[in-house]
Amino acid sequence: MQRQAVQWRRQGVRIGFVPTMGYLHEGHMSLVRRARRVVGRSGRVVVSIYVNPTQFGPREDFSRYPRDLKRDHELCRREGVDVIFAPSDVEIYSRPFSTFVVEEEISQSMEGRSRPGHFRGVTTIVAKLFNIVLPDVAIFGAKDYQQAAVVQRMVRDLNFPLRVIVSDTTREKDGLAMSSRNKYLVGGLRAQALVLWQSIKKVQALVKKKRRLNAAALKEQLQKFIELQPDAKVDYIEFFDPVTLKAMNDVSTGTHMALAVFVGNTRLIDNARL
Ligand code: PAJ
Repeated sequence: MQRQAVQWRRQGVRIGFVPTMGYLHEGHMSLVRRARRVVGRSGRVVVSIYVNPTQFGPREDFSRYPRDLKRDHELCRREGVDVIFAPSDVEIYSRPFSTFVVEEEISQSMEGRSRPGHFRGVTTIVAKLFNIVLPDVAIFGAKDYQQAAVVQRMVRDLNFPLRVIVSDTTREKDGLAMSSRNKYLVGGLRAQALVLWQSIKKVQALVKKKRRLNAAALKEQLQKFIELQPDAKVDYIEFFDPVTLKAMNDVSTGTHMALAVFVGNTRLIDNARL
């Protein structure tokens, strides 16, 4: 992959990159189309498919994370992806391996707090993938808002010579954010999962009406609303500045909202600008 990328760059061919963990869905494909629009027909679009073990906690779903390389391959082919880079664990973490990339500020809250070590795994694998794929532009989804912010910070702090684009969240017709983990939502869980989007809509409507709201009171009210669903349990609800990711006590237009909710055993996240 890296040899190919070096050759493309020598030839002045633009490289657009979409890192993924596979089990691709329409959200991923919207990033692929964005990459193609940016690099044009003369450019190359690379999709990586790698379920990165270092970003999963010991009690998380690494081993049962959904995988279907054959289907992913077909989706990429249809969308005109030039290369799928799907390395194995030994290729990526050849032993001994002892160098990690750690962002120390905006990765502390929300996903970072709930999933210790998660962002260390993400920044390390994304840095490695950038060094292998050598992209001019990398596309990330707003679905993982904090992840995109952490990657942008890493790129700036470590002078990676590439541009990061953050692309909108793709949703199902009823509003559920697309995710590979939605596969786990069997039976009545799928309907209950809608509560994340309903919470966002609710707060957006409230902000429109009331202009200014107290974050703590709002969190309490939302938790009650969410946990009316029999299998839903709030992990966190956060209101924060969209640039600094600093938590805010007052919620108003322009505040960003993110939440993580367990629906059954599946941990779902969503976020939106208010
Ligand atoms: P994964 O969850 O497969 O997501 C790959 C990319 O697709 C991420 O940038 C994510 O934000 C984006 N994405 C997922 N669902 C989306 C949706 N509904 N709408 C728009 N974009 C969506 O995120 C990861 O993998 C990994 O952490 C990775 C960056 C690949 C590092 O291992």
